[in-house]
Amino acid sequence: MSNVFELGFGASDHEVALDSIPVRGRIPEWLNGTLLRNGPGSFTVGQQRYRHWFDGLAMLHKFSFQGGRVSYANKFLETQVYKAARETGQISYSEFATDPCRSLFGRAMAVFSPKISDNAKVSLAKIADQFVALAETPIQVHFDPHTLRSVGVSQYEPNPVGQMTTVHPQFDFAEDSVYNLVTRFHRVSHYRIYRMRGAGVPQLAASMPVSQPAYMHSFGMSRNYVILTEFPLVVNPLHLLLWLRPFIENFRWKPRRGTPFYVLNRHTGELVARFESDPFFAFHHVNAFEQGDELVVDIDAYPDNGILQAYYLQRLQDADAELPFGQLRRYRLPLKARKGTRVSYELLSDECLELPRFDYERLNMDGSYRYVYGVSLNKAQRNGFYNQIVKIDIQGRVAQRWYAEGCYPGEPVFVGAPGRTAEDEGVALSVVLDAANGRSFLLVLDAQSFTEIGRAELPHAVLFGYHGDYFNGV
Ligand code: CO
Repeated sequence: MSNVFELGFGASDHEVALDSIPVRGRIPEWLNGTLLRNGPGSFTVGQQRYRHWFDGLAMLHKFSFQGGRVSYANKFLETQVYKAARETGQISYSEFATDPCRSLFGRAMAVFSPKISDNAKVSLAKIADQFVALAETPIQVHFDPHTLRSVGVSQYEPNPVGQMTTVHPQFDFAEDSVYNLVTRFHRVSHYRIYRMRGAGVPQLAASMPVSQPAYMHSFGMSRNYVILTEFPLVVNPLHLLLWLRPFIENFRWKPRRGTPFYVLNRHTGELVARFESDPFFAFHHVNAFEQGDELVVDIDAYPDNGILQAYYLQRLQDADAELPFGQLRRYRLPLKARKGTRVSYELLSDECLELPRFDYERLNMDGSYRYVYGVSLNKAQRNGFYNQIVKIDIQGRVAQRWYAEGCYPGEPVFVGAPGRTAEDEGVALSVVLDAANGRSFLLVLDAQSFTEIGRAELPHAVLFGYHGDYFNGV
């Protein structure tokens, strides 16, 4: 994986804006919009290197489609973190698993005036007509989707010190609202659910005290409920507030806690149910919906937190290392059962799955949804990094795959064809690193046959990124 490692976890020094990039095959004419992606643009600053896949300086990428043609631009997100890196040639802010070397004095001072990273590199969304680069740290960076330039910042609470949020806000399109979880670390910590309606300010929808908060990268949402899946990767809030170690290394895996599900009514704020399950870990909830008296929670799960260890660059550098498999699990929570009832799961597929996507726009919170797309590991070639894309049919219990030797695809974003009648009528878009070529391309898959219909070629390699989305008409 050495060559792949250099290409996927190195540094980009190309910021370009190209009116047209070469297309092979065909790009559907109906594709008229922009795919925006967020992710690391560099894992090094001067002589220093970040330590983990979830570190790195944020970079935005933009692919715009019109009449079968594709334009492309990329730009480092304009942040204080980036500015400091540029000006000092050193890592000046703490990230997920990297802490700049600080004196004891600096560490003690950090309790009172921490430098909160604004390096919003993980995802992005359009919230109340604003494009926002999303981070787990509380500062969110607004940007112009045409120029990719920063236009401002926002946060959920006036004082963002000692908070963590998620990069996966949940949308209720019918209600024109969006929800997100903010974990507030304090002597008594809280999980707080915020709701934003239209262009309004965030309002507290629910709040729950917690003594040892968990690391939760996402949460579930159905028509009536918010589901907090409390993985037993937990922190003594004091350790985090004292910032003794890099952010994630303050959390401890405590499997004896199991993984409880907390179900909160998102309209009243009431905690309505709690369920127990065997310990597991996940980054991504996929979908959640109510079915009779049951709340169904689909989640991309791991037996433990080993996946977080596997994403350290030092581990990824080892060509023989195998990533743990993410599994698509279905938990059924019987809402009428007594508090603390134990629940188990059903495995929906034996394919490895990460960065899961589905037709969220139409089928979020809808139990009739059928197809989940994601990056995966080819079973015959499991070492290295994600090297195929899968489409899991959760009703038919079969999967389709796209695999090409030496190619490493990123998160596949499903874009539905206008007026579609079948759920999978449309395309899946993925930025693929072609290691032999030393460059990346945008792959356009027909989502039904799961075969390539075209690709648009980039002049450079794109580092392994996380999340993005497609915006029609932008
Ligand atoms: Co994520």
